[in-house]
Amino acid sequence: MISRELERARAWEEMKDKEIDPLSRPAFHLSARVGWMNDPNGFSRYGGKYHLFYQYHPYDAQWGPMHWGHAVSEDLLHWEYLPCALAPDTDADRDGCFSGSAAELPDGRQLLIYTGVVETELPDGRRRHIQRQCLAFGDGLNYDKYEDNPILTEADLPEGGSRLDFRDPRLLREEDGTWSLLTANATPERDARLIRFTSSDAVHWEDGRVMIRNGGRIGTVWECPELLTIDGEDVLLTCPMDMQAEGTDFHPGNGSACMIGSLDRETGEFVPRVLRPIDCGIDFYATQSIRTPDGRTVMIAWMQNWDTASSYRDERTQWLGQTTLPRELTVRDSRLFQAPVRELLALRRDEVRCAAVPVEGRVSLPGVAGRCVDLELTVRQGRDKMWRCFTVALAADETHRITVEYDRAKELLSIDRTFSGTRRAIVHRASAAVPTDEKDGALTLRIILDRCSLEVFACGGEKTLTMTYYTPLTADGIWFEADGDAEMDLVRYALEV
Ligand code: FRU
Repeated sequence: MISRELERARAWEEMKDKEIDPLSRPAFHLSARVGWMNDPNGFSRYGGKYHLFYQYHPYDAQWGPMHWGHAVSEDLLHWEYLPCALAPDTDADRDGCFSGSAAELPDGRQLLIYTGVVETELPDGRRRHIQRQCLAFGDGLNYDKYEDNPILTEADLPEGGSRLDFRDPRLLREEDGTWSLLTANATPERDARLIRFTSSDAVHWEDGRVMIRNGGRIGTVWECPELLTIDGEDVLLTCPMDMQAEGTDFHPGNGSACMIGSLDRETGEFVPRVLRPIDCGIDFYATQSIRTPDGRTVMIAWMQNWDTASSYRDERTQWLGQTTLPRELTVRDSRLFQAPVRELLALRRDEVRCAAVPVEGRVSLPGVAGRCVDLELTVRQGRDKMWRCFTVALAADETHRITVEYDRAKELLSIDRTFSGTRRAIVHRASAAVPTDEKDGALTLRIILDRCSLEVFACGGEKTLTMTYYTPLTADGIWFEADGDAEMDLVRYALEV
């Protein structure tokens, strides 16, 4: 049944979408159809296509009562919008349908599991959301909310969990056909813990157990958790809120964490061995991953940052929020590697290949420009003076540029959007420790631009840096600069959908 609220959202997005110039959006990243997007949700396969839902407030380019937007794709890069899938329209989700996941049931229906929120007034007068898990069943287009929602409430939590932080259910089909569900939770003091439930039918859940506790180490609530098996390793991805800076890799704010360790199948406890950020850039949060039919693990995330997202908005903003490139994940030697999905290769056009280009001072190369580009570059020592800093400037004109900068002495790779045209006092720079190649001292990078986003893959994908910027599209220059004598191999492709 389609409720009045859902009908209204669908009519609204249909109308407003027509007013948006497609060139104002990313070309091959999914962006909010209209209004606001945050987390990707329900990333799954159904009916032979990839389905991607997202946290959605169609009526304004800022967060509000959460709906689920919906899109499908055959190659993870060309996205087709489908009508809004969920609206807050029942007693169990009156104030919002928060993040969740999706799967195909054995009977052929598509199951969505999400957090229904209902606002309440606390004894001290503050208004907060009570968070409970809910279901909806559908055919890939329309969804019926389960009449017995919510299916998991605070009463199902192991002792000590708060009903105000109980969200982001992540479904997993086990090899024996049973289901498990990982959810974010926290103590009333907001110390994170992740709870894992089990079920034989994905509807009735039981045996909620604490899989891991934060113990105050990494941020507060661990949002959007996922437990994956990649190359035989147990991998926990989660996005901790309220992190503090640590070394070069972890930045203040809501961040991302990848823990590689082992899940004790008896006790249900996860013991991490290695902790790393997933992405060291500015705009990366709330991952969702799937297994593709050919066996790859592909992760996607929200390419925004809670603390800065709204500062990009003004009264003319028609859409705000996009996902990252889908990235293939692999694990080697207890390290997570990311690579843009190989489907991106099919979008490559107009190859420009330059070998052993001397870079001393600033250099531009014929044919090397564009706002939808895929660049592969390797920088080595030139003939004489060793370079210390190497800069790639993109989305550049006389007044604008974003940069990817490498400081060889500090072994630090930075992305910077100070000169992107921003007028806000927000974070504009982020860095990650990136050593040069052990054997020949070279620096190799892959850089992808899609109109208003930058994704940098370094160290063979072990380090990534991601950010958005909203520079006028006419600024499409690319130049390179070294403060010594460098030599560069470069391949540049235009990316076209
Ligand atoms: C993460 C998050 C989730 C929540 C959703 C609400 O960005 O805070 O934990 O479900 O966004 O929109």
